[in-house]
Amino acid sequence: MTEKKRIVSGMRPTGKLHLGHYFGVLANWKKLQSEYDSYFFIADWHALTTKFDATDTLCDNVLNVALDWLACGIDPEHSTIYVQSMVPQIAQLHIYLSMITPQNWVERDPTLKDMARALREGGHSEAQVSYGLLGYPVLMSADIMMFNAHYVPVGVDQIPHVELTRDIIRRFNNTYKTDFFIEPEPLLTQIPLMKGIDGNKMGKSFNNDIKISDDEETTTKKIMSAITDRSRLRRDDPGHPEDCEVVFDYWKIFSDEVKIEEIEGLCRMGQIGCAQCKRELAKRVNELLAPIREKRRQLCENPKVVREILLEGSQKAQKDAQIVLDKVKEVVRMY
Ligand code: TRP
Repeated sequence: MTEKKRIVSGMRPTGKLHLGHYFGVLANWKKLQSEYDSYFFIADWHALTTKFDATDTLCDNVLNVALDWLACGIDPEHSTIYVQSMVPQIAQLHIYLSMITPQNWVERDPTLKDMARALREGGHSEAQVSYGLLGYPVLMSADIMMFNAHYVPVGVDQIPHVELTRDIIRRFNNTYKTDFFIEPEPLLTQIPLMKGIDGNKMGKSFNNDIKISDDEETTTKKIMSAITDRSRLRRDDPGHPEDCEVVFDYWKIFSDEVKIEEIEGLCRMGQIGCAQCKRELAKRVNELLAPIREKRRQLCENPKVVREILLEGSQKAQKDAQIVLDKVKEVVRMY
């Protein structure tokens, strides 16, 4: 039997997740977890890099992310699911990496620059851009190297971080005359970009998202509020699916070829009104989410089980991480 390749990926605990997370990330992880030795973690230290002063909701957010993951089929039998701060070896590895990483490597990281700019433009003071935030990509390198990952499933915005990880690995291996660390590759997927209900990118802060945990009624209401083809005034006017950004896009994500063609045909011929089209879409979305929501509800009643899963996953991660850390200390020649 050949050994499976390892993947590591993480998500900052921002609270309840939405359908953009589901289609963009979780559906992919769910598939990957049977093909790879998978490590998925909740990046609570990374949350602190920008929100060190908003920790009152942090624990809740971690729990909610875990609930969403488990409900969506991220399976502790297949994946190691853990909380970053519960694996202290990562912080130690971060220290070693921070020593060998030239300052200008982190300063030129484009994603980090965007984060710092967003903070400043959000009216935050210069003090909000911390030393820890500067170390964001180095901490992320530690996340990835901690399990000597072969691949890192991420979105395009994270590619600079994976590139930096490769640079740090080359420098580490060179400096300490070792070939221990593997240079990981980003694992990009063809993910349909999920628009928010207003046509912009779906995001919690834009108030245009449908949460995985939303109930049927809320979901239906949100979908019914989407703007459709503006040139269509009467129900039997011919419609233009290509101009119906949100609703037609959702149909493409939520159903199969046959149904998409049917809806497209009915719309073009003016045989289905926008309200009815949205009602049918909402029904379809709710059907798809029903089992996920049911599972989430059950887990929600049993938060102890969820905490236990995170604890066990973190203990397993600690064990694997310690082996890597011992190796690092040996090649760096620590006392
Ligand atoms: N930076 C990632 C994000 O914002 C989260 C993350 C932290 C991550 N550490 C990671 C992703 C390690 C992949 C691997 O989405």
